[in-house]
Amino acid sequence: MEGQQKQVTGYLLFSLGTAVIGSLQFGYNTGVINAPEEKLRSFFNSTWVERYGRPIDAGVCTIVWSVAVAIFSVGGMVGSFSVGVMADAFGRRRSMFLVNCLAVIGGLLMGFSTICSSYEMVIAGRLVIGLFCGLFTGLTPMYVGEVSPTPLRGAFGTLHQLGVVVGILIAQVFGLESLLGSAKLWPLLLALTVAPAVLQCILLPFCPESPRFLLINLKKEEEARKALVRLRGSEDVSKDLQEMKEESAKMAMEKKVTIPELFRSPLYRQPLLIAVMLQLSQQLSGINAVFYYSTGIFNSAGVEQPIYATIGAGVVNTIFTVVSLFLVEKAGRRTLHLLGLGGMAVSALLLTVALLMQKVVAAMSYVAIVAVMLFVAMFEMGPGPIPWFIVAELFSQGPRPAAMAVAGCCNWTANFLVGMSFPKLEELCGPWVFLIFTAFLILFFIFTFIKVPETKGRTFDDIARSFGSAPPPASTSADEPPAGAGAAVMLPASPVKE
Ligand code: GLC
Repeated sequence: MEGQQKQVTGYLLFSLGTAVIGSLQFGYNTGVINAPEEKLRSFFNSTWVERYGRPIDAGVCTIVWSVAVAIFSVGGMVGSFSVGVMADAFGRRRSMFLVNCLAVIGGLLMGFSTICSSYEMVIAGRLVIGLFCGLFTGLTPMYVGEVSPTPLRGAFGTLHQLGVVVGILIAQVFGLESLLGSAKLWPLLLALTVAPAVLQCILLPFCPESPRFLLINLKKEEEARKALVRLRGSEDVSKDLQEMKEESAKMAMEKKVTIPELFRSPLYRQPLLIAVMLQLSQQLSGINAVFYYSTGIFNSAGVEQPIYATIGAGVVNTIFTVVSLFLVEKAGRRTLHLLGLGGMAVSALLLTVALLMQKVVAAMSYVAIVAVMLFVAMFEMGPGPIPWFIVAELFSQGPRPAAMAVAGCCNWTANFLVGMSFPKLEELCGPWVFLIFTAFLILFFIFTFIKVPETKGRTFDDIARSFGSAPPPASTSADEPPAGAGAAVMLPASPVKE
């Protein structure tokens, strides 16, 4: 039984790989703006001179720059919030296809900004790209969660984050002055996002629509079965179908769930709280203080070649995401998330000590590098990948799109807040700034310890039911029924009454 479910086919990997191009795009566009800062600033200046015959005011330049950086997250908030509506209206696969238009529009806007002497095009392009990335931070985890076999849902769920971190790394490397980060080539660096979008559009027609969407939303059982047969590489997909049908039967009672209903229904209160808190734990851990501003952090720690230390952080980031991918089905989500949050808190303390003592002990700059690497590594053990895919696990098909939208929007909002406020906080707190994140990390550690259940190896329906009919078990998977077993016993589901 387990063997049949664990079957990984080339076709499944192909479909996952295609979906994960969306994650790569999110990572690339997160990391890409960091390196060419100076080039962009001087472009703003030259446009200004062309138009008004005088150089841009330093303050105005910084405002234009901050807007260009931050508007990405604003687009992300709106995009992630629209995921549910889109995924239900067009399906998962067609939504991914359509959303790529945004990458093309955004990429072209930024790519042609110098030719058109318009810094507004950079800002507009960043907004459109943010929308695009926001949509993908919902669509990819949703699709991946829905096509993966239950016992491997976590490992494959981690693929989204792997795509993100590889995207960040590619952006860091391409952003080097000697590659695309030069004064001439930076528009190409920003426009490069068009290429994966086109590639994904070519590949998507060969991928199946999510069988869950086909069966549960469209009631097309035969098509769902066909998709499953291809994905699993076996004619016998009865177990998967059975699991979906049970979820579907429950869905018939709960109907489609809109965002306001999600907030109103007591049935979803627990999983929603957990989903939102996990997203917040990811962003308020301070990870993007590192990914947006690491060069500055390394500078103040006295590191001589900060750009290489930044790329080093990108490499560690990627390696540990792979480690997590292999651990997540063994150690479980809850354990890894706790380990990650705890480890990050310790690393943040270490970094604080290093920054404080750096003036006295020069070698502290090495301690700072180690602390940042440790911080990033611990992030990728749990808080990086897990929040992205656990939302799809905590909800059944009915409320899933709405829940992904709310969770994604919280993530982007917190991302925006950290991105915007970190420079100011650093100015105010100096070397103590990472203690703010330590405090958040401890808080989220306690929350996870008390509230987050283990979801490893459990069916969507089983997980949803544990919230519906009983308080969430703060237990480890040892107490849980084996994969699939939960769905075989139909407990009276608690329908939502709205
Ligand atoms: C996660 C976060 C993203 C961050 C990245 C770093 O995907 O959502 O904001 O930049 O991890 O690896």
